[in-house]
Amino acid sequence: LAERTAPRDLAGRHVVVSAGGTREPIDPVRWIGNRSTGRQGVALAEAARVRGARVTLVGANLEVPGAERAADTLVRVETTAQLRDAVRAAAADADAVVMAAAVADFRPAGTHESKIKKVPGQGPAPLELVENPDVLAGLVRDRVRADQVVVGFAAETGDAAGSVLEHGRRKARRKGADLLAVNAVGAGKGFGTEDNEVWVLDAAGEQTAHAVGSKREVADAIWDAVVKILR
Ligand code: CTP
Ligand code: CA
Repeated sequence: LAERTAPRDLAGRHVVVSAGGTREPIDPVRWIGNRSTGRQGVALAEAARVRGARVTLVGANLEVPGAERAADTLVRVETTAQLRDAVRAAAADADAVVMAAAVADFRPAGTHESKIKKVPGQGPAPLELVENPDVLAGLVRDRVRADQVVVGFAAETGDAAGSVLEHGRRKARRKGADLLAVNAVGAGKGFGTEDNEVWVLDAAGEQTAHAVGSKREVADAIWDAVVKILR
């Protein structure tokens, strides 16, 4: 029923969605990663397709059955560098790019060719990290088309420095994306769960939408916000 009543307001558009979580190898058997399964990103891809878009999904270590059916093209990646290259290539002719992927902020300064062994009596060697490129910031900075809509995601827990929404507002202003979807994570919210609560903020940090519901309902609320500013 949802499919039959959905508006075809993305017909003729190409949209790019990144989903999942990037992994940065330490050695051939270990990585630094995060808890993202990719379900919100896959829901975004499915929703866009139903609304008529051609969808490129860049999936980082997706743990979603049937993800290949969610998009016209699925590009599977592991690391942040691979994700950046795939997103930028796909974004070249995209009307909108939604960065739903959880991107590792740091990666090991070097990757060991063989498995790191523990040496009896010696503690662990320190793991040196370097910062990853900010894919979203790069898309905003090098906008391939003035009318391309760029959307970021922020998963926040809230802490002593501010609530979920306060962190989201600051991030919206800092990131400069057209829209930032802020969702509360941790303690049974967000990662791997069925229901989500999302605030959509503009580049000034002003709220343009609020949605509570399944990842699919949240996805449609985000596309509603995108459609409003697509030219
Ligand atoms: N992002 C990105 N490249 C990175 C880090 C994040 O493209 N290296 C994108 C994410 O895909 C998301 C948005 O930026 O759309 C916000 O990610 P988040 O981790 O919340 O922001 P950070 O700027 O990394 O801030 P912090 O982790 O310190 O909260
Ligand atoms: Ca981050």
